[in-house]
Amino acid sequence: MGEASQVFVYRKWPSTMRVAVIGLGYLGLTHAVAMAQLGHFVTGFDVDQAKLESIRLGDPSFFEPGLKVSLESALARKQFSVGIELGRSSSFDIIFLCVGTPSQAHAGDADLSQLFAAVESVTQAILPSTVVVGKSTVPVGTAAAVRNRLSERAGFQVHLAWNPEFLREGTALEDSINPNRIVIGSSDDYSSQKLKEVYKPILDKGTPLIEVDVETAELVKVAANAFLATKISFINAMAEIAEVSGADAVDLSKAIGYDERIGNKFLRNGIGFGGGCLPKDIRGFVSRAEELGVGAAVSFLKEVDAINQRRRARVVFLAEQELGELSNKKILMLGTSFKPDSDDMRDSPALDIGLRLAEAGAKVTVHDPVSLAALGDKHPTLIREQNLSAAAKDQALVILGTEWSEYKAIDPTTFGELVANKLIIDGRNVLDVASWQAAGWRIIALGRNVHN
Ligand code: UDX
Repeated sequence: MGEASQVFVYRKWPSTMRVAVIGLGYLGLTHAVAMAQLGHFVTGFDVDQAKLESIRLGDPSFFEPGLKVSLESALARKQFSVGIELGRSSSFDIIFLCVGTPSQAHAGDADLSQLFAAVESVTQAILPSTVVVGKSTVPVGTAAAVRNRLSERAGFQVHLAWNPEFLREGTALEDSINPNRIVIGSSDDYSSQKLKEVYKPILDKGTPLIEVDVETAELVKVAANAFLATKISFINAMAEIAEVSGADAVDLSKAIGYDERIGNKFLRNGIGFGGGCLPKDIRGFVSRAEELGVGAAVSFLKEVDAINQRRRARVVFLAEQELGELSNKKILMLGTSFKPDSDDMRDSPALDIGLRLAEAGAKVTVHDPVSLAALGDKHPTLIREQNLSAAAKDQALVILGTEWSEYKAIDPTTFGELVANKLIIDGRNVLDVASWQAAGWRIIALGRNVHN
């Protein structure tokens, strides 16, 4: 690890560009490093000075496989640097807006304050030749408002394009460099041409390019995430049916997934989806559709959300069913991140279930291979334990909440010697039921008809 030589960098070609990336969070930093890897000269900006400093020293400040090595390499090659201020003297071919668009604290709609603050911060640096490109996920109609605001401030018609990303945490850099498609939304040829230049090495590989208007580009991202969330909730709804009818949702998923029109991806039932995108995007979509007067068109997404929440409640119900009154019962939650290979705990089902159990009086210990440092002492009702064997000691119930490979590799026999009660709920359907049962465990697998 840490060796710059491991990073593949594209050879420079005549149109190497000067690129600015505003917002160095998950999306922005990954995009900036990917752009540097494509051979461009990238400057990253962020309002968080502490984050900028750690990035300057080669620490991404969040966990993403491969990103640290690539960041260090880009810094060493001087193809990526952190900027101080985006002033009049700055000169960039493209400015990417990558700031966060979280949900408003008490409503589903997107909070666009960071986006419009970023818009203000870039106005001084925009020349008539600059293309501003939005990558943040936004409610449809935002790009037009951004273009108006920028043009008003700049005093000329600013070139603006919208270019959604589809990166998944855990494979973010790979998804940026080898995306399965590039979507460019713009209403002028100049902006599209510049974007095609910046992505030339990717497009030269034959990556599909879809050129659309900005509104469609805005919608593509939320529509894709709404579809993915619906797929997961669909199979989780089938799990609800399976649980009361004696059917098996894992087998059902396999059986329907062989139909290519359905497909077997994103059809894993369990404790449901979380993270920084799917939950917030479906809520934001509902809210925006309601504003546009077509709320009924996506009202099913409220049910998608409700099914997802019910899976979490189901685990708490099962814990109560198995242990009785939860007060002072010792429960181990395996995993706190919303998915493996990530330390992101935004709307994490595993963490949420852990908190719900603690709220009900249980003594909840949480283990996670990487996220406990990021968790810190934010949730004092949870006991953090980094050592898996120590975490298992004397537990009355173990719940697998995040399918880290470390948990899939647990030996049920030796693990069984540590706990007080060989009882496990597999919230992700990744454990081999037969071998856990053979080691004397009672295993409850969500949506499965397991005979213990
Ligand atoms: C998602 C989209 O996949 C990505 O295209 C978009 O750019 C950002 O949002 P990400 O948030 O990284 O990416 O997570 P993803 O891999 O999509 O998983 C989302 C959640 O769904 C996780 O909590 C995961 O555990 C859960 N999930 C996924 C399931 O419960 N079942 C599945 O079959 C798949």
